[in-house]
Amino acid sequence: MPQSNLAPINAATRLCAVLGSPIAHSASPAMHNAAFAALGLNWRYLAFEVNPNYLRAAIAGVQAMNFAGLNLTVPHKLLAVDMVDALDASAKKWGAVNTVKFELGTDGQSRAIGFNTDADAITQALREDLKLDPRGAKVLLLGAGGAGRTAALKLASEQVAELFLVNRTPSKAEEIAGEIKTQFPSVNVAVGFPKAGVDLVVNATSLGLKADDASPLDESRFSLKKTRAVYDLIYRPAETKLLAAAKAAGCQTANGLGMLLHQGAKAFEIWTGQPAPLAVMRRALEQNVYGH
Ligand code: ATR
Repeated sequence: MPQSNLAPINAATRLCAVLGSPIAHSASPAMHNAAFAALGLNWRYLAFEVNPNYLRAAIAGVQAMNFAGLNLTVPHKLLAVDMVDALDASAKKWGAVNTVKFELGTDGQSRAIGFNTDADAITQALREDLKLDPRGAKVLLLGAGGAGRTAALKLASEQVAELFLVNRTPSKAEEIAGEIKTQFPSVNVAVGFPKAGVDLVVNATSLGLKADDASPLDESRFSLKKTRAVYDLIYRPAETKLLAAAKAAGCQTANGLGMLLHQGAKAFEIWTGQPAPLAVMRRALEQNVYGH
């Protein structure tokens, strides 16, 4: 990675960071620092382990220190909605903030603006990595936490024909299904496993992040033979148990690297005002995640 091309840190270096817990395995610093280097920007991207109890203080702290921007990851995306000065249309629409831009006004006051770059990134990745157009598709979505909710609403907004929501805690899936019925009445949404086949299974649970995690899909309830493709939002490990089983069943598969790339590229553009060097960012992610 061309980290060596990064301008030396000095008093003018602009800072961005990702806040999360856990954060140690984030690939975002590698991706963004490679992009800063490629564009010759005197910027740096850091990662901080932040307990949710300190999230408000952490955002206020970096705002006071004139950071350029932030990314927020698990478990901060919903909490941050109430911790910024204003929400961009994307954050209002999806009800979660994964990107913050600090804007310095002429009065010297900084404003924290919250954005959501995750939702669009999901469908961009499905199109690129699985050649899958969500419109008219039948989808089984596993998970109804923060990531699951954003994925469900985005897929509904892209007019999937049928959306099946499955979650360990069914009430959370019911809640999302209710939202979809109100906001996107043309989408046929149900809680539970489909009887017939689908085009796509998406894992938006956190199951698979740890080596000893079970697969998020109960194959006695739904066979992988009944889907064309499987997308796992997890990118580390690069091949989860779910993706390995899906490959063995002959499905097309992709991990969450493409989604990470596209949400990051949009965030980069929001902070810097410059087009993101996508190829450089993808390469940096691949090196970080696959080690080659
Ligand atoms: P994120 O922002 O990544 O979505 P989250 O909001 O904590 O994180 O959601 C985690 C998702 O993984 C949820 O769907 C959760 O199921 P519950 O809503 O029932 O908690 C799911 N999940 C986490 N651990 C799980 C486990 N051991 N078995 C099944 N589902 C699990």
